[in-house]
Order: sequence, then C-alpha cells, then structure tokens
Amino acid sequence: MTIEQAETDVLVVGAGIAGLSAALSADRAGADVTLVTKAERPEDASTWWAQGGIAVARDDPATFREDIVAASDDTAEATAVEVLVEDANDAVQDVLVDTLDVAFDTNGAGYDYGQEAAHDEARILHVNAETGKHVHVPFLNHIADETDVRLVEDTAALELLGHEGRVYGAVLERDGEWAPTFAGATVLATGGIGALYPRSTNPESATGDGVAMAALAGADTADMEYVQFHPTAYDPAPPERSAGDTGDEGTFLVSEAVRGEGALLRNADGERFMPDYHEDAELAPRDVVARAVREERETTGVVTLDVSSLAFAEAFPDLAAKCDSHGVDWTEGIPIAPAQHFLCGGVAVDDHGRASLDRLYAVGECSRTGVHGANRLASTSLLEGLVWGRRAGRDAAGRSPERVEAPELLDRDPDLPPAFAGEKFHRLRRVMDEQVGIERTPQGLARAQSVLRRLKGEVDAYIRTRTSRSLYELRAASVVALLVARAAAENDQSAGCHHLVEA
Ligand code: SIN
Repeated sequence: MTIEQAETDVLVVGAGIAGLSAALSADRAGADVTLVTKAERPEDASTWWAQGGIAVARDDPATFREDIVAASDDTAEATAVEVLVEDANDAVQDVLVDTLDVAFDTNGAGYDYGQEAAHDEARILHVNAETGKHVHVPFLNHIADETDVRLVEDTAALELLGHEGRVYGAVLERDGEWAPTFAGATVLATGGIGALYPRSTNPESATGDGVAMAALAGADTADMEYVQFHPTAYDPAPPERSAGDTGDEGTFLVSEAVRGEGALLRNADGERFMPDYHEDAELAPRDVVARAVREERETTGVVTLDVSSLAFAEAFPDLAAKCDSHGVDWTEGIPIAPAQHFLCGGVAVDDHGRASLDRLYAVGECSRTGVHGANRLASTSLLEGLVWGRRAGRDAAGRSPERVEAPELLDRDPDLPPAFAGEKFHRLRRVMDEQVGIERTPQGLARAQSVLRRLKGEVDAYIRTRTSRSLYELRAASVVALLVARAAAENDQSAGCHHLVEA
C-alpha cells in the first residue's frame, strides 16, 4: 500500500491502551480520527504484555491517593494524582466494562481484586496475570469494527510537522515511502523506552519515538531520570551475561501479583532477604525491591522467587505455562533479576495531555503527567493511559487540519546496513546498563553523556544522507538516552528510581 499526503482532525500515533483510548474519545466527540501504529501485531505494544492488571479506587479514593504518593517517594504531583483517582472508576466502567466487556476475574463476592506491592488494599482488576491482552485485543477490534477511526498499521511517524510553536501533524512512513499527514491535533502515544536497555519487559519496538519527536520539535520533557526497573523478570542467563547484548531472549515478567499472593524472594543461600531491606518486605515499593534484588545477586549469586507457599499453577496458570515452556521448574524457585520496565517521565503534559507546543498531546508511557513522580505504583500504567487518553481525545477533537511546509527527507540509500544499527544499539545499551541503570554515580553519568553525545552525532550524520524507519528508531533511542542521562546528571537528589551512590 503506498502512502499519500493526507489530512485528519486528530492524528493519534501509537495503538496501546492510551492511543486507543484517545482515538475512541475523539471519535465519540465527532472528530475525524486517524490512528497510526508501527506495530504489525498486537504484541508489539506494551499494553499487550501487561500482566498484573488495572488498579481502581473502589470506594476508598483517599487510600489509593496515599498509596500512589507513598510509592513515588512523596514526589507525585497532587493535582495529577487527583485526576487519576477521580477518573479511575468511571473510566474503567465506561471503556473497559461497558464498551469492551472485558471479563475481569470474579469470585463469589464480585470482582476478584488483586493485591500488589505498595497497595494498602486489594484493588486490582485483572484477567489471570495476562490482563493486557484481554484489554488490548478487544480494544483494537472495537476501534477497527465499531468506530469511524481509520486504523493504519505498520506505519511509523518519523517527524512532527512543527512551525512557530505549533504542531500540524507528522511525516508518516510505510513500506519505505513517506508523506505528511496534516492534523488539527496530534496525540503521541508511542509507549516506552525498553530498547535502550539490554534487559527490558517491553517489546523491542519501544524505542522512545514519541518523546524524541516531541523533544526535537521543541516540546518540554520532564522527569526523564526516573526509569523504573521491575524487580522480578525471569533471568535465563544469570548473572554472567555480557552487558550490551539484548539479553531479552527468554526473559519474561513475573508479575508483582505473585508476590501479592505470598511469593518470597530468596538469595543464593536460600535466605529470605527482603525483611532486612524494608518493613513491607516483598511488598515494598518496586524501586526498593529492585535495588535489593540487584544487591543480593551481586553478593550471593542467583536470586529466586519462591512460589512454594501458594497454589501457583492454579492462581497463575499462564505464568506456570510460561515457566514450563522455558524449561523452568518453578517448584524449585524462579530465577529472577531486575529488568527495565517503565519510564515515569516523558513529554511534559497537563491534566488533558496537552504538551508545551500548541495542538500537541502526549498520553500513556511517553508522557509525564506527574502521577508517578519518581516511582510508579504497580498497576497504574494502564489506568493512566486510559484516563489521560480519554481526556486528551476529547480535548483534541474539534480542530481542523491546516497545512504547513513539510520537511524534505532524503531518499538515497533507504536501507540501513544492519551492522550499523546493531553496533550503535549495542553501545547505547551497554552504557545505559552500566551507567544509567538502577544505581548511578555522578562520574558514570558524565561518562554516559559523553559516549551518548558521540553516538548521537554519528547517527545524526547518517540521517543527513538517508531515510529509513530503523534509522529514525535509532535516532529516537539516541535522543532519549541522552535526555535520560542528562536529567539524571542534573538531579543530585536520590528519589525513587533515581538512586545515586558513591563511585
Ligand atoms: C506486574 O504485573 O508486576 C506489572 C504491573 C505494572 O507494571 O504495573
């Protein structure tokens, strides 16, 4: 299919829960909506991979609010937390229950609310421990079949069309061809940055495209130093794997819900260690548990998640099946290690997802709403995407597209030599892992910035000679990596996921 110059009222980039939610509400508001995603399969969006579920306020919003703030190391923004908590029950009921009919797990008393770390009560709606796909697939189907939204797959946004503080759409690429789509409003919903780290729970496509495009167009970003690591991702190759390799093969998330049900963390000596680190032990905030797991791995060796106290196969059949298919005998404990999981910062937005450039919005993981502060509470990411997507979509509707001059992209040598991208990504991941990971030092952050500046310079030089999706993904990764390293270097206060140590 060739790509042609086009116009739309609302252009949404990214088809996880945040982008789908924005498209749905803009469509409901009567806008002509185009939703583009570079994904070819639902699995290419982080939403599909979400396990634990989606937190709701139930009938105790005050406690939910307190838990979000406590998990954030007291850095979450009160106004943003208020928006999330106030909208939570209604957004879930409206979209996930009434519109999509998601079959959340129930018990004899109603919904089977799950418990996860740093939550004071069981408040997590879930479908097994594979909630993401049970939300994402019906949502995609609903948008494709029941709305007027134009859903275009395998199509990437390369650059925003920006002019004098305003955004007019984006240059889109499909099958090696590109053309501008002019939009009355542009909503970025491109997800996270897992591709910047050797081990991540994100899909490979999480190259930070939205944050990079927005930053390059002049939009503000914030809280970029707060990169969250999930403490319990299955570790197929403990601990001597060489840094910089993707290391992702065979990795899978072992949901926090498993610890919520009573699983324990043990070091290589078989000792339970979390009570020595935090009074809430295995249910401490995620950043605390991730650092403890890292330390125990370094000092003792393989760390395992002991699931012997729960009926693991009955409570988590999908995770038990995943262990079986990876040859893991979970009755002996699941070997785990932290893995990059979520970017708490991103494109700075207000309570309707509005960025600092006119007619530009950002929602979901690529945005920084202020809800998470320095560390995100478990099972609030789908909720944030849903709530801000709904708000942004409504707000973005009602504006007609206007045209501006589109940048001229070069069409020489459209193919990027695989070795070029491979080598750059390897270098980028290595420095992010070693210097911009769970623990950071001022010296390491300075070193990281100089490596990343050089790397970005090499990529920029290349981009002046050719256009290809993979080159733009590499550029996005290098821009975002530098934003993360710079923000980390500029913040001398440890909080949540940003943890400084002595060199
Ligand atoms: C998990 O299931 O542990 C992940 C949930 C989340 O990241 O919020």
